[in-house]
Amino acid sequence: MDFLKPRYTPMNRRRRIYEGKAKVLYEGPEPGTLIQHFKDDATAFNAKKHEVIDGKGVLNNRISEFIFQNLNDIGVPTHFIRRLNMREQLIREVEIIPLEVVVRNVAAGSLATKLGLEEGTQLPRSIIEFYYKNDALNDPMVSEEHVTAFGWASPQEIDDIMALAIRVNDFLSGLFLGVGIRLVDFKMETGRLWENDTVRIVVADEISPDSCRLWDIKSNDKLDKDRFRRDMGGLVEAYTEVARRLGILPESDTPNGRGPVLVTSKD
Ligand SMILES: Nc1ncnc2c1ncn2[C@@H]1O[C@H](COP(=O)(O)OP(=O)(O)O)[C@@H](O)[C@H]1O
Ligand SMILES: [Mg+2]
Repeated sequence: MDFLKPRYTPMNRRRRIYEGKAKVLYEGPEPGTLIQHFKDDATAFNAKKHEVIDGKGVLNNRISEFIFQNLNDIGVPTHFIRRLNMREQLIREVEIIPLEVVVRNVAAGSLATKLGLEEGTQLPRSIIEFYYKNDALNDPMVSEEHVTAFGWASPQEIDDIMALAIRVNDFLSGLFLGVGIRLVDFKMETGRLWENDTVRIVVADEISPDSCRLWDIKSNDKLDKDRFRRDMGGLVEAYTEVARRLGILPESDTPNGRGPVLVTSKD
């Protein structure tokens, strides 16, 4: 799988703004921009489980680029400007709202456990949940009351965030359904973007198989980070399959494909 080999030149002289679990943020070329670098690190359970998985960063960069570019194209505002190379993208710097916004369509993970639902049960409607983004506290679930009382977002901003979350969910559900994948749930982050003297809420961070639950429609095979959380193996193969189905990898890069065909002279 040639596309997984690093072809980029690391630009170490740039100022590093933040290093997180899966990505590094560098100062961008212009004020108000950042470079988001996707690492190969996989973490789960608030980084208690950690592994480096070759090729994951490259895949997430491409998949997230594809999703954010499409969101921009349908008028859902995001921080995404453009991809720079195999692992990096240029984004607008935003003031991150410290909430993980989770949208669920089908019961899985913590919701299934908490409410005693069988994983895979269709929910009566899409459900939006908020988690306070704080590693030291294990990202606790919070209600709108907490969000407004502690000033993490205003009531108007919560309305905007929920409207964005619904639009992203509808877009992603349709996108994935079209390629035979069920969007079980996903997490998104939002931020405040200043433009002159107005502020608006935009989708930030990444949307990738690290932050979505994606099940094959027919087999229910997991094509997301649960493969890592649950020690199932085959993570890069699953992410590659998602990218291939979305049409963002050349067919020759598919792990199960025949690969490049040697063209030989007939005479
Ligand atoms: N456009 C943006 N402007 C500023 N910060 C951002 C933007 N997009 C994402 N971030 C933040 O950058 C970090 C990305 O790195 P990541 O490895 O995901 O960190 P974490 O370990 O905190 O989840 C996250 O903390 C995320 O909130
Ligand atoms: Mg993160």
